[in-house]
Amino acid sequence: MNSPSSASNLSRNSARHRGFGKITQWQQTAFGLEGKSDIAQFRITIYQDGIIRIQASRYDSFESNPYSVITSPDQVKFSLIEKDDYLHLSTAGIMMSLDLNSFSLSYFDSKGNLINTDDSLGISWIGSEVTSYKQVQKDEKFIGLGEKTGNLNRSGRAYTNWNTDYFAYGIGDDPLYMSIPFYMGIHDNGAYGIFFDNTHKTVFNFGASTNRFVYFSAEDGDLDYYFIHQPTVGEIISSYTWLTGRMQMPPKWALGFQQCRYSYYPDSEVYTVGQTFRDKKMPADVIYLDIHHMEGYKVFTFDGEKFPDPKSMISRLKEKGFKVVVIMDPGIKTQKGYLPFEEGLEKDLLVKYPDGQTYEGQVWPGWCAFPDFTKEETRRWWAEKMAFYTEAGVDGFWTDMNEPASWGQFTPNLIEFDYEGEKASHRKARNIYGMQMARSAQEGAALQNPNKRPFVLTRSGFSGIQRYAAAWTGDNVASEDHMLAGIRLVNSLGLSGVSFSGYDVGGFAGEASKSLFARWMSIGAFSPFYRAHSMINSNDAEPWAFGEEVEEISRNYMKLRYRLLPTIYSKFYSSSNSGLPLSESLAVQFSQDQNIYHTAFQNQYLFCDSFLIAPVESTKEITKVYLPEGEWYYLFSDQKHSGKQTIYQDCPLNYLPVYVKAGQVFALQSDVESTEYAHDGVLRIHVYKGKTGSEYLHYEDAGEGMEYRSGEFLKRIICYDSSSGTLKFEKPEGSYPSDFRKLKIYFHGFSSNTVKIGTEEFHLMTEDFAFLGKLTEFDPLPEQDHPYFKIKNLPFLELNLLNEVFEIEGLN
Ligand code: NOJ
Repeated sequence: MNSPSSASNLSRNSARHRGFGKITQWQQTAFGLEGKSDIAQFRITIYQDGIIRIQASRYDSFESNPYSVITSPDQVKFSLIEKDDYLHLSTAGIMMSLDLNSFSLSYFDSKGNLINTDDSLGISWIGSEVTSYKQVQKDEKFIGLGEKTGNLNRSGRAYTNWNTDYFAYGIGDDPLYMSIPFYMGIHDNGAYGIFFDNTHKTVFNFGASTNRFVYFSAEDGDLDYYFIHQPTVGEIISSYTWLTGRMQMPPKWALGFQQCRYSYYPDSEVYTVGQTFRDKKMPADVIYLDIHHMEGYKVFTFDGEKFPDPKSMISRLKEKGFKVVVIMDPGIKTQKGYLPFEEGLEKDLLVKYPDGQTYEGQVWPGWCAFPDFTKEETRRWWAEKMAFYTEAGVDGFWTDMNEPASWGQFTPNLIEFDYEGEKASHRKARNIYGMQMARSAQEGAALQNPNKRPFVLTRSGFSGIQRYAAAWTGDNVASEDHMLAGIRLVNSLGLSGVSFSGYDVGGFAGEASKSLFARWMSIGAFSPFYRAHSMINSNDAEPWAFGEEVEEISRNYMKLRYRLLPTIYSKFYSSSNSGLPLSESLAVQFSQDQNIYHTAFQNQYLFCDSFLIAPVESTKEITKVYLPEGEWYYLFSDQKHSGKQTIYQDCPLNYLPVYVKAGQVFALQSDVESTEYAHDGVLRIHVYKGKTGSEYLHYEDAGEGMEYRSGEFLKRIICYDSSSGTLKFEKPEGSYPSDFRKLKIYFHGFSSNTVKIGTEEFHLMTEDFAFLGKLTEFDPLPEQDHPYFKIKNLPFLELNLLNEVFEIEGLN
């Protein structure tokens, strides 16, 4: 197809809006159709039944982002009919109509219900800026967009995607560190997703300063978006992650508690922190080395005075069940004789001005050059350099400041990046830079330790970042509002494909009050990534630094986190296959329930499918909780509530409001202080009576290494069928022998005294069961402030773990 006549020459009148215009030519292709108007060309590609890609360009060829989408279109059956100035394209899942007079698009479900339609302004340009204008459906909600502040429902606000280093951001500020231009719209006719795959600065306006339309636009590049329609929000997220990829299974230790500070030094302090966790019997797996481990903040160095022998420090920590994660900033000090700089120059790996001069910006080490991570050679070089850390025994990598940040916070746009050989200015490359650094770090970890699973934590990223790294929400503040805002950020990241994410527990900037720290530790236990971090020049902020009571509350939740690891690990496995979040906004399963968008309830989420967490400020004694459809058990007492109602819940500091969804099944292990330490071999299964049952996929493997990819895993479905009153253990799949020898099954909400397996009858025993330990009676604690919950006479059954299929009957 020839390019449109004026595509390469923008008209003199480019200061005004210019619509796509009438389509003058079009033709069907193997995957859809393509065509052009007088000013632009388009291509429509069907990727799957429910996924259609729209490209519109005024350039002589289509531009595409080589970094985010990793799948090619499937061969999908479709029909294309021209009728009355419209083209109608249908797959089994979507019908799309295209107005040949204006290039306006409408999408319908397979029954003909309208899902999404362009405003009559359709797709248009102002200079190089390209925009798609869309009508808003009645009561339409907008969710997603990754790491964005504000409400769950983004209606009424506009957002910019421009990766930004934002110290101590406000809870409504934008943009932050990471850009994920993917959102979902939800209304009475259903839900859809739009992934705008353009790495330039983009804007999403969900009705700020206009009541006519919503729109998304990019400063430059093509209008290139994927329209996804599926029956549920969960399936839309799965489609989005089918396009952009899913997280790799992390090492199990990365699911444990992680302790960070800017910075722990010297080595004796690092060691003491580790030792204190063990002395205090607080489970933890990871200690971080922030920037003070380096000599003059120079990457790939250790400060010889503070860390004279990093290898032996790390190996001593390993003996105590700890892994060490090290920070890597992209900025390379432009110092003569400093090898990474000299090599970067010599091998032409650094970002440059268009005239070839190396670009320098100021970061911690002073004036720095920046490796061009959009170049494969640079990524490989960096990956090779990481041997410096792995040889010392470092297990994980933290890519920070990779927006990229530099003092002044205003990088000149003309600097040049390789962009996989395409060459691009900062305008196009900035948003993708951090993700490519994380990619290089992941490749480096894999290169240096091929038998270990990489763990990378990143601050910056773009769509697809989930394939390379876990994410955290940057420099938050020690405040109650920030604690709740962080939950929304993590839930929104989960809606946008990034399952493995978390926030700085305790708050990075400022000082947490005792109660805030305790509450944050308890909420963090139900976050995919569980790490405490705090800033330089702040008070100590380890879980023992806030007094005995906070220490006990923290320990309780850290221990609960570790007991829950069989479930958390299993759900990580599921998420790595489905792309679904681990911290799941209620908008996934209850998208049509208006109450969940209410500002009072929008922070609530499901953790690992079973637990409804209702986060609440530490200053509150009682809170309002909205329980959606179903039935819900208060975790600590088994008190049962019916759903679709608001309840008032006491929330003393030691009890975070957590509810278990009736019908769910989850698994616990005994207390351990590190994921490396052995548990007692008893898998504790908890089943909650419900009107509907559920399937729990239990997953085990070695927790480290790649053997799971060639079958060394154990997968076992445990299915609770409420109508037949049975709990069935299917045959395990895979060659990994279970870590457990025995089963202890707890039955919540059931009245049966006996159950049957085959012809054998078992009398259930009972015990008083508590998910959390009792607080010590300091000084003496007033009972109403610190109640202690036990589930009295909870029935259970103990069995040897059988490898065959078996079914427990008689659950009433
Ligand atoms: C900024 C990061 O967001 C923070 O977590 C870190 O501690 C500092 N950089 C120092 O490295």
